[in-house]
Amino acid sequence: MSVEYRRDGRVVHVVLNAPPVNAIGHAMRAGLMDALDRIEAEGDVERVILSGAGRAFAAGADAREFDSDPEPPHLPDVSDRIARCDVPWIAAIHGAALGGGAELALACRYRIARADAVIGLPEVTLGVVPGAGGTQRLPRLIGIDRALDLIPAGKTLSGRAAREIGLIDEVDDDPVGFAEMTNAEWLGMAVPLHELNSGEAAPEVFEAARAQARAKMCGQDAPLRAINLIERSMTAPFEDGMAEERATFLALRQSDQARALRHIFFAERAAKAPADLPRVDLPEHVAVVGGGTMGAGIAYALLNAGLRVTVIETDADGVERARANVEKIIDASQRRGLIDEAGAAARRNALTLTTDYADAAGAGLAIEAAFEAMEVKRQVFAALEAALPADAILASNTSYLDLNEVGGALADPSRLVGLHFFAPAHIMKLLEIVRGAETSDRALALGFALAKRLRKVPVVAGVCDGFIGNRILARYREAADTVFMDGSTPWEVDEAMVEFGYAMGPYEAQDLSGLDIAHANRRRQDATRDPARRYIPIADRMVELGKLGRKTGAGWYRYPGGNGKVEDPIVADLALEEAHFAGITRTDYDADEIRHRLILAMINEAADILAEGIAETAADIDLVTVFGYGFPRWRGGLMHHADTLGAAAVLDGLATLAKEDPVAWRPSPMIEDCARRGIRFSDWRRA
Ligand code: COA
Repeated sequence: MSVEYRRDGRVVHVVLNAPPVNAIGHAMRAGLMDALDRIEAEGDVERVILSGAGRAFAAGADAREFDSDPEPPHLPDVSDRIARCDVPWIAAIHGAALGGGAELALACRYRIARADAVIGLPEVTLGVVPGAGGTQRLPRLIGIDRALDLIPAGKTLSGRAAREIGLIDEVDDDPVGFAEMTNAEWLGMAVPLHELNSGEAAPEVFEAARAQARAKMCGQDAPLRAINLIERSMTAPFEDGMAEERATFLALRQSDQARALRHIFFAERAAKAPADLPRVDLPEHVAVVGGGTMGAGIAYALLNAGLRVTVIETDADGVERARANVEKIIDASQRRGLIDEAGAAARRNALTLTTDYADAAGAGLAIEAAFEAMEVKRQVFAALEAALPADAILASNTSYLDLNEVGGALADPSRLVGLHFFAPAHIMKLLEIVRGAETSDRALALGFALAKRLRKVPVVAGVCDGFIGNRILARYREAADTVFMDGSTPWEVDEAMVEFGYAMGPYEAQDLSGLDIAHANRRRQDATRDPARRYIPIADRMVELGKLGRKTGAGWYRYPGGNGKVEDPIVADLALEEAHFAGITRTDYDADEIRHRLILAMINEAADILAEGIAETAADIDLVTVFGYGFPRWRGGLMHHADTLGAAAVLDGLATLAKEDPVAWRPSPMIEDCARRGIRFSDWRRA
C-alpha cells in the first residue's frame, strides 16, 4: 500500500509510503484519491494529517513514469481535491518534500516541517516545470519575487529557511504531533491558496529573472517556461494558470532536455559498487602523499567526510606549502559559509602533516598525489608498502601514467588501485576508479566505498593513456587545435562550445589549468605517437613563448590586470604562420562546423574507449563528461548526446571528415557496429 489511512478519533492520518523516498507514482495518486473519497464519505472528520513514512515526506513525482503516457488520476487533480476538501489537510513534513511532494504540501491548508526538512520545487533540474500547481500556488503563498528566486533555479530550502519566507507555517521537531495539537477553530479559517492573489511585480523583475536564467542555466528551456508561468499567475485566473502549467509540464517531460536530465539523474544514482564486489569498511585514517593543489584538495575532501588524514611531504618546506594549501581551502569554505569556526577547527584537528611515512603507519588507505613521474611514484609506493599495514589499500591519483608499471614497484600489486580525482578535488564530483591488471576486488570496492563517503560519482576505468576523461579531452583539444590552425581562432572555438552549453570553451579552460601539463604529456607521448597522425604544433609554440595560461598572465588569451580575458592577435597569428609553413589554405569554419568537428572527435574517441573495454557503458562516459569535464548536463553527457544524433549520422559525419584526414577521423568500429545494427550507443555491449 503506497498510502496508509488511519483514523484516530476525528483525525485522519494519511501516510505516503513508497520506500525509499515516497516518489509519487500512479498507485500513490490513486491511494490519495481513495483517501479523499473515504474522508468525504465519513462526514465527521475534523482534520487530515498528511505525512511520509521512512526518511522523507515525498521526493516528487515518480520520474520513472515520465517516459510513458500519464495515467489518471493526475497529480494536479489530486492536489486540487485536497485544496478544495471541506476538511482541512495539514502537511507534516520531515526529510525531503520536493517537486510533487512540495506541491501536495502547498495544496494543504497548513504546513509544519522539521527544521532540517528539505523543501522546494527542483523540477527544472529534471528539465520540466512543476506540474501540480507549484507555479500557481507558490507565488500566491510567498509572493512573486521569492517564487522567481526559487522555481526557475530549482532551489531548495531547509524547513527553517522555508519558515522564514512563509513557505512553512511552523517548524517543529515532531510535525505530526504539532499537527494533532493545532487549534481546530483556527485551522477551519485557514484559506486555500487558490483563493488568494499572486501579488504584483514589475515587468523588469521578470526580465531580470530571465536574464539570470539565461546566464546561469544557459540553453535550458524549463527555467524560462517556469518564469512565464509565474508571470501568468499574476493575471490569469487560478484554473487557467493550472491548465497552462499542466500543458507546459506535459510538453516538456517528453523533450530532449528532460530525457537527458532524467538519464543523468538515474545514471548518477546507478553509479555504485556492483553487487559482486565484496563489502568493505572504509578506514577512518587515510594517508595522502603530496600536499600540492591536488593532494591538498583530496585531503580536504577526506577531512570534510570526517576522516582522519595524514599528509606526507618530502621536506619541511613541502609540509609548510601543504599546510598553506589546505588552510586556503578551509578559509575559502569558511568565507562561503560552508563551514563554521568549529568545523574549521575539527578539520585542522583531524589533519597531520609530516615528512615521516611512519606517521601514517595506522592508515588503511593511502592516496598518492605526488609529482607525475614514474620514478617518483615508484619510490612513494615502495615507502608506503614498507610503512603501512599489509592489508592497507594503496591508491594512485595519476592522470596519465601506466598504473601497471607503477604497481611493478609493489611486492603485492593487487593492493594498488587508481583513484583519479579532478581539480578542485573537494568540489568536482567525478572519481575515476582505475582498475589495473592486478587490482583486487577489495581495492576496487574500497574505491567505491570512498566515493560514497565523499559523495562523489564513481566510474571504473581501465588502464590506458588518460583513462576515460583525459583521453577524450586530448581528442577534443586536438580537434580544436586543428580547427584553429586550419581556419579559426581560439575565441571562435570557445564561443561555439559555450553556445553548445559548456561553461567555458577548451582554450579558456586550458588557460585555467595551465598549458604546461598537456605539453609534458605530449613530450611523454613523442616516442609512441602514430607518425601518420597529423601533429598540430601551435600549443608547443605557446609554451616556447612562455604563454602557459592564467598563471603567467597570458595563454590563449591575455589577462591584463589578472582577470578579464582579452583576445590576443599574436596567438591568432601563430595559426596563420603555422598554416603557411605547412602549406595549408585556411577555411573559414562557422560555429556549427566547429561544434560538429569537436563533438564528433570526442564521440569517436569515446567509442574506441568502449570498444577497448576501458569504459564499461555509454552511461559511464556520460557521467565522466558531465561530472568531470563540464559537458552540458542537459544534453545528458557525450554518448547520450551521440544517441540523439544517431549512430548513422555520426558515422556519416566521420566518413565525410575522413576524406580530409583518414587517420584522425577513422570511424571507430563501435560506431560502425551500432550504425550497421541500428542500435543506440547506450545499448551497445562488448562481445
Ligand atoms: N522519482 C523516481 N525515483 C526517485 C525520485 C523521483 N522523483 N527521487 C528519488 N528516487 C529514487 C532514486 O532513483 C533512488 O533509487 P535507487 O535506490 O533505486 O537508486 C532512491 O529513490 C533514493 O534516492 P537517492 O537520491 O539515492 O537518495 P538520497 O537520500 O541521496 O536523496 C532526494 C533523496 C529525495 C533528495 C533525491 O533523491 C532527490 O533529489 N530526488 C529528486 C527530487 C526531484 O527532483 N523531484 C522532482 C521530480 S519532478
